[in-house]
Amino acid sequence: MAAFRHIPLLLTLHLLLLSAATTTACPPSDRAALMAFKSSLQEPHLGIFKSWTGPDCCHNWYGISCDPETNRVADINLRGESEDPIFQKAGRTGYMTGTISPAICGMKRLSSLTIADWKGISGEIPKCVASLPFLRILDLIGNRLTGQLPSDIGRLHRLTVLNVADNRITGRIPRSLTNLTGLMHLDLRNNRFYGSIPSDFGRLRMLSRALLSRNFLAGSIPDSVSHIYRLADLDLSLNRLSGGIPQSLGRMAVLATLNLDGNKITGGIPADLLSSSVTNLNLSRNALDGKLPEFGPRSYFTVLDLSRNRLTGGIPPSIAAASYIGHLDLSYNHLCGKIPAGSPFDHLEAASFEFNDCLCGSPLKRPCLGKQ
Ligand SMILES: *[C@@H]1O[C@H](CO)[C@@H](O)[C@H](O)[C@H]1NC(C)=O
Ligand SMILES: *[C@@H]1O[C@H](CO)[C@@H](O)[C@H](O)[C@H]1NC(C)=O
Repeated sequence: MAAFRHIPLLLTLHLLLLSAATTTACPPSDRAALMAFKSSLQEPHLGIFKSWTGPDCCHNWYGISCDPETNRVADINLRGESEDPIFQKAGRTGYMTGTISPAICGMKRLSSLTIADWKGISGEIPKCVASLPFLRILDLIGNRLTGQLPSDIGRLHRLTVLNVADNRITGRIPRSLTNLTGLMHLDLRNNRFYGSIPSDFGRLRMLSRALLSRNFLAGSIPDSVSHIYRLADLDLSLNRLSGGIPQSLGRMAVLATLNLDGNKITGGIPADLLSSSVTNLNLSRNALDGKLPEFGPRSYFTVLDLSRNRLTGGIPPSIAAASYIGHLDLSYNHLCGKIPAGSPFDHLEAASFEFNDCLCGSPLKRPCLGKQ
């Protein structure tokens, strides 16, 4: 009889152990979401989904990691270009076709969603990703995604990385995007975005990289960009931007790369821009006019490309005060007068100065005559 008295206790223990075992596995709803996600994709070469078997998606499923506390799926990290042994064994980069199933939005604790460089994934970004409140990283670079960014993407208030570069995404930049005030890295390059850059872009105070090149963006560069004091890299090249370069861009604290080449930008080069923190400046192929502003000891350029504009006047003698100019291109402008001599550009070739109205002196073959 005594032995039977322990039965309830044993049962309780047994139940406790069972529930412990089930909480270490991923919840069936997350597992079902992953299975639905997998079933809308085809990955013929590497077999990355072969590991997606068994009840516990938190255990050895390729590219999946879970929150150790909640056991909910936290990260989906699938990169088609990777050093992972699975790629080395196959001796090739990844390729996937199919679409991204909206079923992923069932994984409410998702913190990062990376489905990058699979080249063949098409269809739209599921609109429901904007309802994943814990999402910090959304990286879908290098696929064939079409459609638009979800208009309510600004709801993702924890988002730090938004990268949809190298796809075929169209539409305007959603107005709500500037609500992503924690965003540090924005990459929309090489898509089909049109319309203008939101005038309140400067609300993205945490941005360090804003890469919007190779789209169909029009309108002017918002003045508010210069409020983003952490901005180090601004690439707006190869769009249809017009209007002038905001003067304030020459006074930004840490801006190092500024690429505005291949637009329809008019007006002059901001007075402080050539003696600013910028080291990589490409303003080529615009309609800039006026004179070159002054250089100074702060001027340090690995690249300074001002070619194919409508710049007039001479090359300021202050260019000799620059601390370094690696690659200089002033060709195809209307510059005139004697090319100053000085160490920052003694190494430069004639090609840097060709096709101007009347530049003269070394390294051009054309000697300066008279008072030039
Ligand atoms: C931005 O966020 C605020 C506050 O949450 C909200 O009232 C506003 O509608 C949002 N803007 C857009 C364009 O979604
Ligand atoms: C500057 O931009 C132009 C036009 O997009 C491009 O052709 C050129 O190679 C760029 N210059 C440098 C030095 O990268």
